Amino acid sequence: MGRIVLLSGTDTGVGKTWVGCALGGALYGSGLEVRAVKLVETGTPEEPSPTEDGALLARATRQAAPLHALRRYRTPVAAAEAAELEGRPFDLTDTITEVQAMAESADITFVEGAGGLYAPLTWRRNMLDVARRLGAPTIVVAADRLGTLNHTLLTLAVLDLAGLTCPGVVMNAMPDVSGDDHSRGRNADALRRVRPDIPVVETTSPKWVEEVMGWVG
Ligand SMILES: Nc1ncnc2c1ncn2[C@@H]1O[C@H](COP(=O)(O)OP(=O)(O)OP(=O)(O)O)[C@@H](O)[C@H]1O
Ligand SMILES: [Mg+2]
Repeated sequence: MGRIVLLSGTDTGVGKTWVGCALGGALYGSGLEVRAVKLVETGTPEEPSPTEDGALLARATRQAAPLHALRRYRTPVAAAEAAELEGRPFDLTDTITEVQAMAESADITFVEGAGGLYAPLTWRRNMLDVARRLGAPTIVVAADRLGTLNHTLLTLAVLDLAGLTCPGVVMNAMPDVSGDDHSRGRNADALRRVRPDIPVVETTSPKWVEEVMGWVG
């Protein structure tokens, strides 16, 4: 089986899919058999749309399948709640088995979670359980804006407590951050001061994709 790497983040909307597409596209370009999958996506239309996360990831890697998230729910709430409201339980074990089967034929498989690490996938399980069951390292995507240090350090602490591996943090220069935010461009260095053990790249760095590719081998 090829490597499986989780793409998680400090929150929803911090750039996990954007980072996943950049990495997936670059690895495809380097000749590797790469997959990028969205485990579960909520707030999706009835028919898969080309702009949903699962579809964006699939286009980036040119993979034949899957072409959308492994599990899709229409209600735009956490997966556990959407599954309950729609009367379609989210079977985490089956979904993880699908990921493992997919990873058999790939060199590397990225798995994007939903929201941050503690977002409930079921009322009892979250992305920490996925990382544990897949035995996969978790890259943390963080938005380069004020508040990210707290969110990122909390996320890293949770991974530490769970005994899970974080190969690094991608500090993402989101386009919507205010020009008045003096933390922008400084958060990566500040994070390195607190957690010198964790590699940190900024998406403003021209070589960030290559650096992350080095983390995932
Ligand atoms: N570095 C960037 N440059 C330009 N646009 C970006 C960048 N990072 C993220 N975006 C845009 O910001 C929006 C949110 O990013 P994205 O969808 O990747 O977040 P996410 O963490 O995957 O969210 P979700 O929790 O919903 O899966 C998207 O429209 C994305 O294209
Ligand atoms: Mg996403």
